[in-house]
Amino acid sequence: MTIIAHISDTHFDGSERALSRVRRAMTYLRGCNVDVILVTGDLADHGDVKEYNQVKAELVADVPVLLLPGNHDDRAAYREILLDSDGSAPINQLKRAGGLLFALCDSTIPGEDDGLLAPETLDWLKGVLADSEEPVFVGLHHHPIRLNNPLLDGIRLRNPDDLAAVLRGSSTARAVFCGHAHAAAAGTFAGLPLIAAPGIFSTTRLPWTTTDQLAWANTFDRDDVPGVVFHVVENGELTSHFRSIAE
Ligand SMILES: [Fe+2]
Ligand SMILES: [Fe+2]
Repeated sequence: MTIIAHISDTHFDGSERALSRVRRAMTYLRGCNVDVILVTGDLADHGDVKEYNQVKAELVADVPVLLLPGNHDDRAAYREILLDSDGSAPINQLKRAGGLLFALCDSTIPGEDDGLLAPETLDWLKGVLADSEEPVFVGLHHHPIRLNNPLLDGIRLRNPDDLAAVLRGSSTARAVFCGHAHAAAAGTFAGLPLIAAPGIFSTTRLPWTTTDQLAWANTFDRDDVPGVVFHVVENGELTSHFRSIAE
């Protein structure tokens, strides 16, 4: 059995608030018996080097911590601080952790909030899935399906059909994990489970939980508690458990 602790959207912005919410989550997770921690993007809020130094210092544990970029991240600063490399090409990473294979895709478009899997990323993923003889768990920041928040759905992945074609052509893709929506949510995509992690930094309101007209100014609930999804993989089967992280 492998247990993946999936969190997202830490948005380190130099504030005490962001730092304390991440510390609360990481302290909780370090006390849990998990095999890998996955953080699906928007690690930094402005993409500054200083913010990545916080990422590097805070998103650590005795188990592997897998990271991927979101629309608030900056590829060059991310590479410089977290990967000790340079360049602005998509940050696509194949990782083995907890005995599982993770294909972590860069769905960002520099300077934009919505997402796109570039042709080179789709080719890379296709190759990873074709070369693997075991299940592969795919991670990306942007949700490829509508999650019923009109604002967030307006900045979802632009080319879900391209991703779906790659996944449907594979016998090894097992599930898709994403962030970006700041919402714990589950659906299906290309015949696979699709799970979005809650946001550490904030939670998006749903249209049916408020009488307010939702706009960017009031969509993010900053008082809601951070959360985590525990994905349990056993004999190739996946179950996902959602938990809030109380103070
Ligand atoms: Fe975010
Ligand atoms: Fe995002």
